[in-house]
Amino acid sequence: MAIKTGRTDEKAEILIDREKCTNCGICAEVCKGAPLFMEEGKLVIDQSSVFGCIGCGHCMCVCPQECITISGRDMSADDVISLPAKENRADYERLYSLMSARRSIRDFKDREVEPELIQRIIEAVTTAPMGLPPSDVEILVLDSRQKVREFTEDLMKMVKKSRWMFSPLVNIIMRPFFGREYFESVETFIRPAIDIFLEGKAQGHDYLLYGAPLAMYFHSSPYADPADSLVAATYAMLAAESLGLGSCMIGTPAYFIKYSKKIKQKYDLPLKNQPGIVVIFGYPRIKYRKALKRRLAKVTYV
Ligand SMILES: Cc1cc2nc3c(=O)[nH]c(=O)nc-3n(C[C@H](O)[C@H](O)[C@H](O)COP(=O)(O)O)c2cc1C
Repeated sequence: MAIKTGRTDEKAEILIDREKCTNCGICAEVCKGAPLFMEEGKLVIDQSSVFGCIGCGHCMCVCPQECITISGRDMSADDVISLPAKENRADYERLYSLMSARRSIRDFKDREVEPELIQRIIEAVTTAPMGLPPSDVEILVLDSRQKVREFTEDLMKMVKKSRWMFSPLVNIIMRPFFGREYFESVETFIRPAIDIFLEGKAQGHDYLLYGAPLAMYFHSSPYADPADSLVAATYAMLAAESLGLGSCMIGTPAYFIKYSKKIKQKYDLPLKNQPGIVVIFGYPRIKYRKALKRRLAKVTYV
């Protein structure tokens, strides 16, 4: 049986041009869904082996004879494109420079983000790895300050409605069920953050999406690995940085979207989709003069 995802329940088809195939076996080496393997020096296709063809496309990318065509699971021969020239690829120094110059940006110029740049960000996101092909990541794009403002208004209504769930009394009652860490997070972050959002709104400030001119909500089907939308969002941030835009991941909206059928219906978000993360983008208003050195919690070599 094929691996079911949000978009497909079929195996991809594998076509080998036997006239061109030299049975070198390199496609079988990279095939981890396992329908391609070598038997007595000959390339064999067996779609009943392991998962059958999941449509990862790796065989098409390694074949020196260009004699493999995969079709189905959102893949076709047209998806095989030339590798970018080596001299055009970022080396470690350039990639690290891009990464370390990035800051989470929450102050934006009064300028909209051009549609071409939005397209380029999305194009870059399509290169991200996913738990299982084809990608189940979806993006809700709010491509103007006005649209982001309306989205923020809708989220703030949910924030206001949910405030009681994080009250001191409810938190004490929930402590035995959710544990100390949840209790402490509510006390030190969630309740104060909700109050800051609401008080800020009363004074005309937006501490949720910071009045950004562009926001994207990355979410995914219930079949997807929960990390998929976060990986995609990370790619979007790096792409934005390379295009001269600032960005910031915003984790809080996903919690409120998750419990709001109204928001899901209004923004055409499938009801069962897994929550992901919002990223806001725009031209930075404030210039940072230094980068920061940070440390992870722990790195263990075993
Ligand atoms: C998963 C995730 C969720 C985040 N959520 C928020 C958020 O809700 N609001 C916010 O202002 N920043 C948010 N951030 C941004 C972080 O606060 C920011 O990365 C951190 O302060 C470090 O700053 P830097 O990104 O400039 O290094 C989030 C970042 C991540 C990775």
